[in-house]
Amino acid sequence: MSTEYIALMNVAARIARQAGDLVYVGRRNGAGSVQTKSSATDMVTEWDAASEQLILQQLGLVRPGDSIIGEEGTQIVGTSPYTWFVDPIDGTTNFLYNLSGYAISIAACIGVEPVAAAVFLPATRELFVAAQGHGAWLGSNPLRVSSCESLDTALIGTGFSYSSARRDAQGQRISRLLPHVRDIRRCGAAAADLCFVACGRLDAYFEEGLQSWDLAAGQLIASEAGAKISNFSGEPITPSEVLVSTPGIHSSLIASL
Ligand code: IPD
Ligand code: CA
Repeated sequence: MSTEYIALMNVAARIARQAGDLVYVGRRNGAGSVQTKSSATDMVTEWDAASEQLILQQLGLVRPGDSIIGEEGTQIVGTSPYTWFVDPIDGTTNFLYNLSGYAISIAACIGVEPVAAAVFLPATRELFVAAQGHGAWLGSNPLRVSSCESLDTALIGTGFSYSSARRDAQGQRISRLLPHVRDIRRCGAAAADLCFVACGRLDAYFEEGLQSWDLAAGQLIASEAGAKISNFSGEPITPSEVLVSTPGIHSSLIASL
C-alpha cells in the first residue's frame, strides 16, 4: 500500500506543476475574467477554472476510478477508495492582485485522511510534497518543523474568512494572541501556510472555516514534517478548526486560542 502513496504523490506533483505553469503564464496578461462567489470579496478568476479543468483532465487520464472534489465545482464519484481534493488556485486574492503567494494544492485521501500530497507555488517554483509514512520534501530536501519551544518567540500564520461575521470573531482571537507571540503573518494561501510550518518558515498556523481542498495537502505535508495537528481544543483536526504547529508550542497555543 505505502509505495502506492509515493506513486500518488508523484502524480499530484506532476499535475500541480503543470497547473501552476498554466496559471503563472496566464497571469502575465492579467487575471482574466473575474466573478464573485460566497461574498463580494470571494473571487474566482478564469484561471481558477482553467486550472481545475486541467487537473481534472490529467487525473482522469491516470486515475480514472478515483473520486475528485474541486473548489470550483468538480464532484466526481469514483469506484476506488481514493478521493482527490483539489484547490486549483489557493490564494486567489493574491493571484488577482499579482502577489506571489498563491499555490496549487492537490491531495489524495482515503475518506478525509490525506495519504499523498503536492503543493506548488508557481511564482517561486517551490514544490512541496508528502506521502503518508514516508516524509515530506521541498524539492528533494526532507522537511522538518522548527524547534521553537516558546510562544513569545513564535511566528504564527493565520488567515481570515470571506464572511465578515466570522472575521469579527477571528479579529478578537488575533487581538488576544498578538501580545503573546513574536508576530503574526497573514500570507493569503492556507496550503502555503501549512507548508511554511513544515519547513520552519512559520512556527504555527491556525485558521477556522477552511474547506477540505484548502487543508488536505498542506495538512499531510506539515504532519509528515513533524507538526502537531489538532483543532483549537486539541481534538482531531477538521477544516472548520485548524491548528498546526511545531510540537513545542502546541499546548500553549491551545491554551491561548
Ligand atoms: C483562501 C486562502 C486564504 C484563507 C481562506 C481561504 P482561496 O482560499 O487559503 O489564505 O485565509 O480561508 O478560503 O479562496 O484563495 O482558495
Ligand atoms: Ca481556491
